[in-house]
Amino acid sequence: MAATTLVNPFREGISLEGATHPVQLVIFGASGDLTRRKLLPAIYNLVQASLAPPAFSVLGFARQKMTDDDFRNLLSQAVAESGEVRVRDAQALERLRERTHYLPGDFQDAGAFATLKTMLDAFDKQYGTGGNRIFYTATPASLYGGIAAQLHHAGLITPPGGDGGFVRMIVEKPFGRDLASAKALNAELLRYMSEEQIYRIDHYLGKETVQNILVLRFANGIFEPVWNRRYVDSVQITVAESIGIEGRGNFYEETGVVRDVIQNHALQLMSLVAMEPPLSFDARDFRAEKIRVLEAIRPIAPDDVPRVAVRGQYGPGSVAGERVCGYREEPNVNPVSLTPTYAALALGIDNWRWAGVPFYIRSGKRLPKRITEIALQFKEAPHLPFRKSQIETPGGNVLALQIQPDEGISLKFDAKVPGPTMRIRAVEMDFTYGETFGSKDASPYERLILDCMKGDQTLFDRADGVEAAWAIVDPILAVWEADTKVAFPNYAAGTWGPPEADELLARDGRSWRRL
Ligand code: BG6
Repeated sequence: MAATTLVNPFREGISLEGATHPVQLVIFGASGDLTRRKLLPAIYNLVQASLAPPAFSVLGFARQKMTDDDFRNLLSQAVAESGEVRVRDAQALERLRERTHYLPGDFQDAGAFATLKTMLDAFDKQYGTGGNRIFYTATPASLYGGIAAQLHHAGLITPPGGDGGFVRMIVEKPFGRDLASAKALNAELLRYMSEEQIYRIDHYLGKETVQNILVLRFANGIFEPVWNRRYVDSVQITVAESIGIEGRGNFYEETGVVRDVIQNHALQLMSLVAMEPPLSFDARDFRAEKIRVLEAIRPIAPDDVPRVAVRGQYGPGSVAGERVCGYREEPNVNPVSLTPTYAALALGIDNWRWAGVPFYIRSGKRLPKRITEIALQFKEAPHLPFRKSQIETPGGNVLALQIQPDEGISLKFDAKVPGPTMRIRAVEMDFTYGETFGSKDASPYERLILDCMKGDQTLFDRADGVEAAWAIVDPILAVWEADTKVAFPNYAAGTWGPPEADELLARDGRSWRRL
C-alpha cells in the first residue's frame, strides 16, 4: 500500500526577509498612543535590522501642530522608551530621523491632503521611493473611511498594476463597531481601492507564538489525528490582562471588551486552533480556511445570549498587591458606565471536526495576571484500571499553548508517583521558547508592516473575515446594549471575573483553568 503523504503547507517557510521595493510610509494619527508605543519602535527595528528597503521614508500626519524636528524627537523618545527595541544603534536612528517628516493637518481638510500629495511626490524624487506608498490608519476607527475618501480625491490612490507605484492601506482595528458598520466600511474602502490594497491588521497574527499554533498543528504529524471531537473534550481560550484601560477612557467607553479583544484577537486565536489544514500558507489558501471556520461558528440567537455569554465590569480592588480604582472611577469614564471590561462566551462550531466540542473564550481587564493561553482539554481514557482513590489530581490530558508572557507549550499527563503503592498525579512536559531559542522576537507590528511592504496579505484580514467575526459577536452586543439592567461593577479588580463566568462552565460540568 502506498504511504500516505502529509501535505506540508510550509512551502516558503516563515522567516523575516527584508523588503525589496522602495516605499514611503504615511502614518495617520502620528501623534497618538499607538504610533508612539508600537509603530515608531517597529519602524526603527526594521531600519536598524536593514529589513526596511534602503529607499524608505516616513511621514507622520495628525491634527496636532508639530515640526519635522518635533516628530523626529518623538521618534527618538519612542525608541528610547520602548521595551521592543532589540538593538540600540544611534546611527540607524539618525538614518531614520533624516528620512522622517511631519505634516499637521485635519482629516476632513481636502487642502491638507493636496499638500500631502505634493510632499510625497517631492519625497519620491528625494528618496527614490518610486511612487510606492503605504498609508497606515492609527486613528479612531470612525476616521478610516474618511481618510480613504480624502486620499482618493487627492489622487493618492492609484489602481494596482499601473505604472504609478503601489498603494496599500493598513487599517487598524476595531474595524467598525458592529456587523453593519463593518460592512459599510468595507464597501467604502472598496469604493476607492481594491481588496488586494487593503491590509486589515490584527497584531495578534503578527505574534510569533500565534503563528506557532500553525506550526505545531501542521508541521507535526502527531497532533492532527487527535485534534477533533473524538479526542478533544473542550477548548479554553483566555486573553487575560492585569492592566486597566491605561488612560484610554474615551476609547474604551466606545469599545468595551467585545469590540476591543473578543471580536478580533480572541476569535483569531480560535480560528487558528480550529481551522482545517490549508493547502499552503499563501494569502488565498490560508485566509480561506481561517474564514471558513469562523463561518461555521454556530450563530447565537438573541434568546440564547444569557445562556452562552457573560459580561463583567471591574470595581475597585488590588492587582499584584497594589490598590487600583474601579472602571467607573477611571478618567473619562461615565460614573454609571455599562461598558463591559470582561466577557466570557461558550461557542460551538458546526462542522465534522468540532461538532459537540465547546470553545470557551474569556477576556478581561484587571484580572490577576497577564496571560494569553489556549488549552485543549482531552477526553478521559475510556476505561481506568485504577481506583479513584489512587488518582490524586483528576483532570486528564491538557495541551496548553501559552501565547504570552512565558511563551511555550505544555502537555499535562498522569504519572505514577514513585513509591511502593499505586498513586497517580498529573505532571507537565514543558517547552519554553526563551530557553530553546533565546532570541528576542520581532514585535508583531514589525512583522506585519514588513509583510505589507512585501505585499504579503497572509496575516491580514480579508473583508469577509472581519465580517464573519462581527457576525458572531453582533447578537451579544445587541442584547447587552438593549438590556441596561445589569449590576455593574460585578467583579473586583484582581479577581478572575464575575461568578456567572464560573457558572457558565459549571452548567456543562466543567471549570475554568486556574492560571
Ligand atoms: C489591543 C487592545 O488591541 O490589544 C488593548 O486595544 C489590549 O486594550 C491589547 O490591551 C493587548 O495586546 P497584547 O499584545 O498586549 O496582548
